Amino acid sequence: MPEQETLLQIVNLKKHFPIVGGLLGRTAGVVKAVDGISFDIQRGETLGMVGESGCGKSTAGRAILHLHKPTGGQVFFEGNDLTQMNAEALRALRPKMQMIFQDPYATLNPRHSVKKIVGEPLIIHGLMKKGSPQLKERVAELLELVGMDPAYMRRFPHEFSGGQRQRIGIARALSLNPDFIVCDEPISALDVSIQAQVVNLMQDLQEKLGVAYLFIAHDLSMVKHISHRIVVMYLGKVMELAERNDLFDNPLHPYTQSLNSAVPVPNPKVERKRKRFILEGDPPSPANPPSGCVFHTRCPLTVEECIKVTPDFQEIYPGHFVACHLANQKGGSKIPERANPVMAGT
Ligand SMILES: Nc1ncnc2c1ncn2[C@@H]1O[C@H](COP(=O)(O)OP(=O)(O)OP(=O)(O)O)[C@@H](O)[C@H]1O
Ligand SMILES: [Mg+2]
Repeated sequence: MPEQETLLQIVNLKKHFPIVGGLLGRTAGVVKAVDGISFDIQRGETLGMVGESGCGKSTAGRAILHLHKPTGGQVFFEGNDLTQMNAEALRALRPKMQMIFQDPYATLNPRHSVKKIVGEPLIIHGLMKKGSPQLKERVAELLELVGMDPAYMRRFPHEFSGGQRQRIGIARALSLNPDFIVCDEPISALDVSIQAQVVNLMQDLQEKLGVAYLFIAHDLSMVKHISHRIVVMYLGKVMELAERNDLFDNPLHPYTQSLNSAVPVPNPKVERKRKRFILEGDPPSPANPPSGCVFHTRCPLTVEECIKVTPDFQEIYPGHFVACHLANQKGGSKIPERANPVMAGT
């Protein structure tokens, strides 16, 4: 980890969406998209965030940035509570916190030139004037920073490949010198060969600029290379949080163990001997989450306590947090082979 200085503190953050149904548009319950998550993000670090589709990763990213107003909890940025800020104060902080998306093509305006796309935040925040030489210079500098020819500023998004478009999205996000960027699956839509290039670029930029990332992905293999620490989400809650190598070497939550067993090991001998633990079925609906531990309906280790009592998110040893009743008991929550009906040898 680069420096040890807390940039963001997320405390029991919740985002519930009302379900509006019926002819009269009455509220028929809530979707608990994010349901009480807590962690911090250090200055200049990459915190990877993984979990299955619909577990609340994008909602968490947006709620942290206050693009969605949280239902509960707090977000502290450099010690200041965003949830207590008015619209004007939030707007003043906006340049420090940016977001990049999975599909840059859907988020880059096709009618705008690269110059307009990358320079727009500077104009909106009143830092530079439209058509000014300073703006052109800054856009050229940003394009060089992301490894693109500054002459491309006159071109339009459709003229670029997916990887180049993601570079444009990154240049735009960097235009205001942010301290923090939520990266919502920035490489998931790219070819595998391009994914590594974009990850390397993002790492280089972090080293140069000291920016912190919340790097969201579906699976552990995508965040393995770039993350300093990794947070694992399931059904709106954090299941586990640990330093990257520690999470891979010693996953304490059965859900993390299942995600981990899906990551291929480069050594073919080790890979062949490995047991796979494949989760059956889909996660339950966040509109009607299971009682107790939300993972208990899919967990091979479930005991009565898991059905009745929600496990605390506890620090088992320094830096390693987990929400599992069995994780801190003798024998831990390691899935024994015989307990796993869907364990498939490969
Ligand atoms: N604006 C919204 N209104 C109502 N429900 C929403 C809204 N946004 C998300 N949800 C619901 O909240 C839950 C979490 O969604 P979210 O998009 O955050 O998950 P995700 O982990 O990012 O999924 P994916 O990996 O598919 O991107 C889902 O059940 C989703 O349907
Ligand atoms: Mg998402």
